[in-house]
Amino acid sequence: MSRLIVVSNRVPPPADKGASAGGLAVALQAALRDRGGLWLGWSGETAATEAESEEIKTRVEGNITFSLVDLTKRDQEEYYSGFANRALWPLLHYRLDLADFDRRDTTGYFRVNAFFARILAAQIQPDDVIWVQDYHLIPLAAELRARGITNKIGFFLHIPWPPADVFFAMPWHRRLLEAFTSYDLVGFQIDYDAENFVNCLVREGLGRETSRGTFKAGEREFKIGAFPIGIETAEFTSVAVEAEHNALVKRMAVSLNNRKLIIGVDRLDYSKGIDQRMLAYERFLENTPSAHGKVTYLQVTPKSRSDVPEYAEMQREIAETAGRINGAFSDIDWVPIRYINRTVKRTTLAGLFRMADIGLVTPLRDGMNLVAKEFVAAQKPEDPGVLVLSRFAGAARELDGAVLVNPYDMESTGGAIAGAIEMPLEERIARWRSMYDQLTRYDVNYWCESFLKALETQHNVPAFGSQN
Ligand code: ADP
Ligand code: G6P
Repeated sequence: MSRLIVVSNRVPPPADKGASAGGLAVALQAALRDRGGLWLGWSGETAATEAESEEIKTRVEGNITFSLVDLTKRDQEEYYSGFANRALWPLLHYRLDLADFDRRDTTGYFRVNAFFARILAAQIQPDDVIWVQDYHLIPLAAELRARGITNKIGFFLHIPWPPADVFFAMPWHRRLLEAFTSYDLVGFQIDYDAENFVNCLVREGLGRETSRGTFKAGEREFKIGAFPIGIETAEFTSVAVEAEHNALVKRMAVSLNNRKLIIGVDRLDYSKGIDQRMLAYERFLENTPSAHGKVTYLQVTPKSRSDVPEYAEMQREIAETAGRINGAFSDIDWVPIRYINRTVKRTTLAGLFRMADIGLVTPLRDGMNLVAKEFVAAQKPEDPGVLVLSRFAGAARELDGAVLVNPYDMESTGGAIAGAIEMPLEERIARWRSMYDQLTRYDVNYWCESFLKALETQHNVPAFGSQN
């Protein structure tokens, strides 16, 4: 088996430094645990000088060797907070209203990609398979090809890909699309994303699909496909079972005092629809006076990307909404929303999911959403909770037992909460069973192996527009 090199901007924190809140790091760590490999990425630290950012820090955890670099403040601002998170993230989540296309950030983005390519190229051996992750690193393969690297290189996008008319609002859309053609395989979460992407390539005149999933751009041929990401299903279930003995989980159970528990767990991100979710819960409280004092909605939301102005703004909005709803509905012995801004340990999280009667996962747009899958994996088979899931999450294509909602429609999402609370046990079990079977079959290892298999069977052909 060839050595696997994974490259991503974000890597999991060291084992003793808490949980990582973010699907990419969680999923890849699980996928690499057995297979092992080299994982290159950003340390999360700031380098004082450019020379300092050249120093590679190595960390070994089990089968995984991390090769990490610090980024200068300027690189973080332009590449990470700027182009990746103020241009690409909102654009690919259909939020043109929040996108900021800045020339300096764009230059920084391509510069940091060239830097990662330089660091990586020095470590590549002939048989290595390289797997690049997510929107931070789209130009990486083109940069590696320019340095003469001919290894198999795959790319997986963890977030959505919008229709062409949305993507073409990006001033540098052609340059980005061309960069994709240096990969051997480009993977998306769902078919719809892959179709949107192919349509972008075709409309931009970059080539044609020769057969389904194979694209020819100039002399170069590469594959495009959907590889829905999964979780470590069996592992997460057993963690959830054990978590029933967890002290914090027990404390939560006592404090609930027989109330129904509704749970939401998301990074503080506008794509997650947290504000809209709270408003839907407010509608539910308005329309269901009999539920007052009998339900608790716990929203666990660690801060994320706080240097990006749109995130700071949203932090204020959500805190305000939670405060206003609590002010309006609380009683001396009941608070309708418990709002917590931090990460919790995976065991605690699994235990809280298991205890919950409803999982509220209502993103406005999401590539997949692993929280939805974790919630299902954590349930008690004999008395499972109900998943209320946005139809705009990639997970909605797979989790057919969820109650699907339109997160923009607060009235009916509120109604779905009421329906979920009343749902008979038999229906809950039937819905949960079909989702759990799906998650057991298509877990994170299936995702990893099916992507790598598709990559390894793709033959190498010259890079688009390159001379080699
Ligand atoms: P995203 O990758 O956009 O953050 P996902 O739902 O796909 O969304 O993945 C989030 C991951 O981060 C999940 O594995 C989830 O358990 C974890 N996570 C999210 N919030 C927290 C939190 N407050 N504490 C611990 N882990 C969290
Ligand atoms: C999403 C993205 C990941 C990212 C994660 C956390 O899952 O797809 O690439 O790592 O969010 O965001 P952060 O900016 O903290 O890495």
